[in-house]
Amino acid sequence: MHNKHITYFTIGTLMLLLAILHIPILKVSISPAEEPRKEKSIEEITDLLGTPDLDDIEYPDDEEPTAKQIELGKMLFYDRRLSKHKTMACVTCHNPDIGTGDGVAKGRGVEGGLVGRNSPHIYNLAWNKIFFWDGRAASLEEQALGPIQAEGEMNMLLEDVEKRIGAVAGYQKLFKEAYGDNAITSENIGKAIAAFERTLISDNSAFDRYIAGDESAMSEEAKHGMQLFVGKAACIECHSGPNFTDQSFHDLGMKSDDLGRGKIIKAKSMNKAFKTPGLRNVVFTAPYMHDGSLGSLEEVVQFYNRGGDRPTDNKLVKKLNLTPQEERALVAFLGALTDPVIVKRPEIPKD
Ligand code: HEC
Ligand code: HEC
Repeated sequence: MHNKHITYFTIGTLMLLLAILHIPILKVSISPAEEPRKEKSIEEITDLLGTPDLDDIEYPDDEEPTAKQIELGKMLFYDRRLSKHKTMACVTCHNPDIGTGDGVAKGRGVEGGLVGRNSPHIYNLAWNKIFFWDGRAASLEEQALGPIQAEGEMNMLLEDVEKRIGAVAGYQKLFKEAYGDNAITSENIGKAIAAFERTLISDNSAFDRYIAGDESAMSEEAKHGMQLFVGKAACIECHSGPNFTDQSFHDLGMKSDDLGRGKIIKAKSMNKAFKTPGLRNVVFTAPYMHDGSLGSLEEVVQFYNRGGDRPTDNKLVKKLNLTPQEERALVAFLGALTDPVIVKRPEIPKD
């Protein structure tokens, strides 16, 4: 009798406890999965991403370059005289015919040695504020003089570049027209190359036409991928803004000994962090990542889906649980960011 009472009491208390606890438990653990994800509107996506605005480009000293300066920069970009043995130009590693890259995981410098990192694409850098995979250059002007002098790349002293270019009659005339008297300086070489690079703009992809109101510009699969990009797959956390980059540095958990940003700012928290690359024209820029270790967009998406290859403190890197169909949709969306930039090979002045 006594025992029975205790049993009833215990069961009653348990039921009561369950009644109190059950509801919140159910609410927390089950309902989010059942609730369908809300799709973002075109307005919301335009706010998060959008089309690059030419008026937002900040030119050095607020001065837009002239057509003559741009054309001169293009010649220098294509001119092998900028490298020690006249065998290599900027275009060797940043070829507009192959996505402004070189198509290989790591290229070779003028002396034949492998370059330490993948040649990045150079599209839409006009809006960019920080350069190189590790952010060690602050302007395109500064950046351009880097590879010319780098022993592992073009291996030239700036004074020798000035002498070599200065000896070409055609360039004497072109520099004068572009920058005035006594203008063949490494500073102006950097300026002209940067002026040309800022014209490598891709801004009329299917995605841009879609957000501008052309419903048929993107396939249903690409639209699905777009929703995943800004939703479930959370790519938008880093690939944000009209050029699909936050211009910041993240460790994605790649297997690589390269310390990246951490080596530049000597901060452990930035070890193995690299700059988020822009994604416009990304279908042309394989192989991918700072070490060129991922050969296709499918491989890149699979890498994100499995939450990287090495544990990292980065909370944004985690298993995404994308289905194969969702992986394909993301790749289709990346394909919708394509608007080729066609560059006609310039006539370079002869000796
Ligand atoms: C041998 C191949 C090679 C040559 C030649 C070369 N580059 Fe590069 N370029 C690279 C590599 C590799 C990187 C990335 C290096 C890094 O981040 O540490 C890079 C980075 C860049 C970047 C930075 C892109 C970004 O998103 O931050 C620009 C701009 C650039 N190069 C322009 C040039 C110009 C201009 C020239 C000629 C003066 C040139 N490059 C010559 C291989 C090359
Ligand atoms: C935590 C920030 C972050 C998130 C989230 C993120 N990315 Fe990235 N992405 C980066 C960084 C940083 C790199 C360069 C990494 C490296 O080279 O080590 C990169 C590289 C890439 C590349 C290679 C581009 C090239 O030119 O080499 C592609 C493509 C890409 N991401 C697509 C995506 C997609 C699709 C998603 C969503 C599934 C995504 N990213 C999510 C930061 C991020």
